[in-house]
Amino acid sequence: MTRFDAEQPVGAGGAGCPPVAQTVLGLHGQSTGLSGTCETRLVEGSPRQPLPTKVGMTVNLGGLEMKNPVTVASGTFAAGREYNDFVDVASLGAVTTKGVSLNGWEGNESPRIAETPSGMLNSIGLQNPGVAHLKEHDLPWLQARDATVIVNVSGHSFDEYVQVIEALEDAPVDAYEVNISCPNVDAGGMTIGTSAASVEKVVSRCRAATKRPLVVKLTPNVTDVTEIARAAEAAGADALSLINTILGMAIDAERRRPQLARVVGGLSGPAVKPVALRMVWECAKAVQVPLLGMGGIATAADAVEFLLAGATAVAVGTANFANPTATVEVIDGIAQYCDRHGVHDVNELIGALEC
Ligand SMILES: Cc1cc2nc3c(=O)[nH]c(=O)nc-3n(C[C@H](O)[C@H](O)[C@H](O)COP(=O)(O)O)c2cc1C
Repeated sequence: MTRFDAEQPVGAGGAGCPPVAQTVLGLHGQSTGLSGTCETRLVEGSPRQPLPTKVGMTVNLGGLEMKNPVTVASGTFAAGREYNDFVDVASLGAVTTKGVSLNGWEGNESPRIAETPSGMLNSIGLQNPGVAHLKEHDLPWLQARDATVIVNVSGHSFDEYVQVIEALEDAPVDAYEVNISCPNVDAGGMTIGTSAASVEKVVSRCRAATKRPLVVKLTPNVTDVTEIARAAEAAGADALSLINTILGMAIDAERRRPQLARVVGGLSGPAVKPVALRMVWECAKAVQVPLLGMGGIATAADAVEFLLAGATAVAVGTANFANPTATVEVIDGIAQYCDRHGVHDVNELIGALEC
């Protein structure tokens, strides 16, 4: 398995990275000017599936039945197509799609990826072709493969979140993840997710629009994440996911210029894991609804830490760019951890931290 070196960037954006990462990030023919450090992995034969196991691996995330506790973090896996040569998307607990808005967004100006020690900064800005495109091209493809699907919903306004959900109600979607935490847009996203009052408003409106499981994605860019978590739960969220990226910046001192055109962006990858773990642990004590933990998960050991901290399921994000089979390796590794520790069902790990 690819390991991240504390002094090295995660290799997400450099020209030397796997073509799959460049496709998902929209970097075709474009280099960040930074050197990628990851290896390209060529997979022969069929996409990888998890190994058979006697360990009970199914979990229930607020009404969403998952065959194992591992999904992908929105924005790092597109809608699965680019990764299907590497992993069987149907074998994941769920595929979480890139954030979708009503009519699509162009995203922010380039450069919008910068590599940092043990992490990456992105300021993609929720670029997407719109909900009609997702319904026409991606959801039927996922349905044909029998994948479990979480659609990540974004909006510039409260109305837009609701309109996206309404547009998806007749589509093959298993759950929604409402992104009120993107740091890379001027309206919507994190501007909503940092105030308990606006979180209550948008979540209750989304709640009224669907009976499907509603996961609300929280930002770490707040003083007290539990206040926001409680507001989302009170407004009808079935589950919470956390964390989205941490606001950061990178500077090219030689040029005296910011590395990102938007100056600031969202930090992800192994560098954010301790923050994410702490926030999952805090939220697990503050709310009753289940949690989907993410932030720097690259290995099964990382994933188990999130489960012990109180997450019911986990998402692999930035790690997919360096290692496109990371998800299946994490699923197998969780089962092996359970075997080694005499754990018959993965649910026994949830919140089992002793402190
Ligand atoms: C390139 C990129 C694009 C992202 N796009 C989205 C998005 O569309 N919606 C969303 O909720 N989160 C988005 N995120 C945040 C991730 O889903 C995840 O919350 C974050 O990266 C932390 O997990 P990680 O460290 O494992 O990547 C994006 C992250 C990256 C790196």
